[in-house]
Amino acid sequence: MIGDKKVLYSGMQATGTLTLGNYLGALKNWVELSDDDAYERFYGVMDLHSLTLRQNPAEFRKNARNLYALYVAAGLDPEKNCIYFQSHVSAHAELGWILDCFTYMGELNRMTQFKDKAAKHADNINAGLYTYPVLMAADILLYQTDVVPVGIDQRQHLEICRDIALRFNNIYGDVFTIPEAYIGKAGAKIMSLQEPERKMSKSDENANATIYLLDDVDTVLRKFKRAVTDSESEVRYDAQTKPGISNLIDIYGAVTGKTREETEREFAGKGYGDFKLAVGEAVAARLRPLQKRYQELVADKSYIDSCIKENDGKAQYFAGKTLRKVQKKVGLTERIR
Ligand code: TRP
Repeated sequence: MIGDKKVLYSGMQATGTLTLGNYLGALKNWVELSDDDAYERFYGVMDLHSLTLRQNPAEFRKNARNLYALYVAAGLDPEKNCIYFQSHVSAHAELGWILDCFTYMGELNRMTQFKDKAAKHADNINAGLYTYPVLMAADILLYQTDVVPVGIDQRQHLEICRDIALRFNNIYGDVFTIPEAYIGKAGAKIMSLQEPERKMSKSDENANATIYLLDDVDTVLRKFKRAVTDSESEVRYDAQTKPGISNLIDIYGAVTGKTREETEREFAGKGYGDFKLAVGEAVAARLRPLQKRYQELVADKSYIDSCIKENDGKAQYFAGKTLRKVQKKVGLTERIR
């Protein structure tokens, strides 16, 4: 809690361009909560986490700033939501180190995301990739967070964060608030348009598999037109036998608010071609205002700069409070002022 408000905290890695999956799985939920004054809201651009994969410095710097602008373009007002860069608040790295010392290798060995990434980047299995969930725990715990809206793939990371916080509290008293995951209902997991058994990913080699938030209308329509489906022709939800169509039904539902049954009824007797076109148009219509706002923001450097400055300071203030408390609890020597 901060004052009488609950704290909401989330963030995304600052790599590549955001996908429709990132938007529907996470960002859209953030925006829905972003006018709720019951919450004090923090959204990080998680650039330290991005360093677990080798980055091209110039591209990385550009992507991180663009991610900031995309948060805002998607509907998070930076004057009401503390949107900031993780690397600008040194308390993250400092608490991360302390929490490393309260995390067991056995726990980290169980992390499925680590196993996946280690398999994918066998030439660079660095220690940061391994302790990634501990830095994430530090992100969350620094702000005395109550709720963390994330995609379903982050559930395990939330669990370990809670375990670390409980362990710490058991030793030192109530230092950290124990956070809860908030997984949105519809569209929590958007699958690849080409291999609908796999998650939509920004790093997919097949360009047709992924919708990017900055794709233009023609590209969006073309990718949906080429989406892999099954050999039937009935628009019917069945994730097992019809994963492609089921994914499209979920995407359509997430952007229009329609339930699976409503969509099935709407397209009863119509073919896949009509349905794919409708999904493409609905997605493009949803992205249009976001893209327009994004272009305006990118053109107005001084506005984003002032938001960054203001919010970095706010984040530093709250994170610093928790960090000093932790340092004192574990027995680090107090500074002389
Ligand atoms: N690991 C998250 C992801 O890949 C990003 C992240 C880092 C995060 N720190 C966080 C999300 C803290 C929520 C809270 O999506």
